[in-house]
Amino acid sequence: MAVVLGIESSCDETAVALVTTDRQILAQRIASQDEAHAPYGGVVPEIAARAHAERLAPMIETVMADAGLGYRDLAAVAATAGPGLIGGVMVGLVSAKALAMAAGKPLLAINHLEGHALSPRLADSDLEFPYALLLVSGGHCQILRVEGVGQYRRLATTIDDALGEAFDKTAKILGLGYPGGPAVERLAREGDPMAVPLPRPLVGSGEPHFSFAGLKSAVLRAKDSGRHSDADIAAGFQQAALDCVLDRLQVALDNSAAMPSLVVAGGVAANQAIRAALEEFAAARGMHFVAPPLALCTDNAAMIGWAGCERLESGQDDPLDFQARPRWPLDPEAEPVRGAGYKA
Ligand code: KG4
Ligand code: ZN
Repeated sequence: MAVVLGIESSCDETAVALVTTDRQILAQRIASQDEAHAPYGGVVPEIAARAHAERLAPMIETVMADAGLGYRDLAAVAATAGPGLIGGVMVGLVSAKALAMAAGKPLLAINHLEGHALSPRLADSDLEFPYALLLVSGGHCQILRVEGVGQYRRLATTIDDALGEAFDKTAKILGLGYPGGPAVERLAREGDPMAVPLPRPLVGSGEPHFSFAGLKSAVLRAKDSGRHSDADIAAGFQQAALDCVLDRLQVALDNSAAMPSLVVAGGVAANQAIRAALEEFAAARGMHFVAPPLALCTDNAAMIGWAGCERLESGQDDPLDFQARPRWPLDPEAEPVRGAGYKA
């Protein structure tokens, strides 16, 4: 059994965890920066980088102390090396390099998306490759075919907004605050999902990609018309988003060789309506449905430590001059999609 230190700092969570190759999380800490960014209505990269720089080193010390371990007990040091906000990524990666160098241990430069892609295997030792992963958060919106460690096929991505971003924008239009997903879900329970006619962008298209910008504009028009209750708009939006997800998944899976399991990850996986529909969808296709605990689905360092464990066990490590990558597609062969930016 080997212990890997995992560091995550690619967005607005500073996170550190100690994970073992036999799937134990020995200790972990997460510090959110929500309060620092709240006055600006979104993540400010410079503020994020400074907050990571301030918090990371003491958090690493705390996690090591929590587990009662010294740096020489580590098998490797893993950190997110991209994609993400470059200042924050550099803080985490440089810290990992320094620790790896000082302790004489290998460095593992982890693709943040690989962390998400492999995290379900940390929670579920029975989850075998290949599996289908629906990754839906405020920053990600992809369908992946996870074939093995380092082997990922991107089946679909978004050409504009991520699904969580669409929930957040709808919440903003309805005056529900940030983050909006949980508030939209709550209000949707009181509304009629069919009362407001809303579009289902790209549904019926042979390409499995996502688009939510048109849906958001339609939500704005519905609100401005003054003809609908906020609850009906929230319910209508959630239903439209759900219809898009199921249709896109269907196309993506029909275009790919069969996979025994469907896994959902990312903050939107907290949505009960979406979870229930995915479970039904998987059952209808004869697939096993896996929804890991939410703390592993949202940004965290255990998933980075675990990806480190998986890579270490498959004999991979990285040089100390590994450069942080603001963009880093998980599947280098995936074709660029028109209009897709960071989320590609
Ligand atoms: O994974 P996450 O914590 O952070 C990143 O975006 O990386 O995901 C947060 C996103 C936000 O957009 C939030 O609105 C959405 O997940 N979310 C939800 C729900 N809970 C969180 N969306 C829909 N329904 C929910 N219950
Ligand atoms: Zn993430």
